[in-house]
Amino acid sequence: MIVPKKIDLANIPTPIQKIKFNGCTFLIKRDDLTGVELSGNKIRKLDYLHYHAKKRNADYIFTSGGDQSNHCRASVIAAASVGIKSKIFLWGKDKVLPEGNLFLDKIFGGEIQYLSKEEFFNIDEIIAEEKKKFAKKNLIVYDFPPGGSSELGIWGYINFIDELKNQIDFKNVKGLFSAAGSGGTAAGMLVGCALHKLNTKIFAVNVLLTKSDLQNYIEELIEKCISKYKLKIKVDFSKLEILDGYSEEGYKNIKPEKIEVIKDFAKQSGVLFDPTYTGKAFYAYKENFLQNKKSNKVMFVHTGGLFGAFAKRKDYLHS
Ligand SMILES: Cc1ncc(COP(=O)(O)O)c(C=O)c1O
Repeated sequence: MIVPKKIDLANIPTPIQKIKFNGCTFLIKRDDLTGVELSGNKIRKLDYLHYHAKKRNADYIFTSGGDQSNHCRASVIAAASVGIKSKIFLWGKDKVLPEGNLFLDKIFGGEIQYLSKEEFFNIDEIIAEEKKKFAKKNLIVYDFPPGGSSELGIWGYINFIDELKNQIDFKNVKGLFSAAGSGGTAAGMLVGCALHKLNTKIFAVNVLLTKSDLQNYIEELIEKCISKYKLKIKVDFSKLEILDGYSEEGYKNIKPEKIEVIKDFAKQSGVLFDPTYTGKAFYAYKENFLQNKKSNKVMFVHTGGLFGAFAKRKDYLHS
């Protein structure tokens, strides 16, 4: 087995917190506490991606996402930490007074190219063209995949399982539950569990891709990772359960009833969820695991995203 190297920007291990909500007790893994500016799941993947960007003497990293992308924000900030410039391609428009992640992208020096939804469908071509322009100026560009999810990036969540094994007895945890965007978090967890021969279920709430696209994407990522790093494992895909139908309002939106749950939870626990990922995932978690129960053995993984709440503060205040 080949284990890739990484840098150490993520503030890990992250704590596990016992929470009581509506009379039900369960555990939350606080991956929102991987950093302050670097908060959330993305920095675990970026530790691997940035190590490789540095090793290739990259002048620039390129990546892409929505205008409130946590991945783009964390990529820009991590790039600033390691002394690489960044250019991000965002689906959205510039604002006079940018909020949340977009505000931080600007503060930390990310160069931004805004794209319409239609243009974003051709993101690979747009990035390839831009790379050619940079190459003509003798600039080395290393591009990160959307969400940091590649066979390299998912090591962040393979490593997460090693970390969890040192923190808990897996006999007491039946499953791990999180939001899924590009699928790397769930893919890494599945590989990590297979490496440790754990029988744990991985629950993922698809907020961006369709259920079947996400399933295929996760399977592909895992197969590429197994082959590239010569892992001697067989991943049992029946351990992955995708909970569909919790983002019908669209990736960039959130329904008032979900915000109600986010606010209710914040008041009872002191923990805040974001509108795009963790808020939707927690709504699904509540519906599926917390109704009329005293305790629940599926651990909720808080993957961060807090800055996205500031960009939706009107919805949070007025729902
Ligand atoms: C806050 C947050 N939670 C969860 C996810 C989902 O992670 P992944 O893209 O690895 O599925 C993302 C990114 O997409 C995120 O920003």
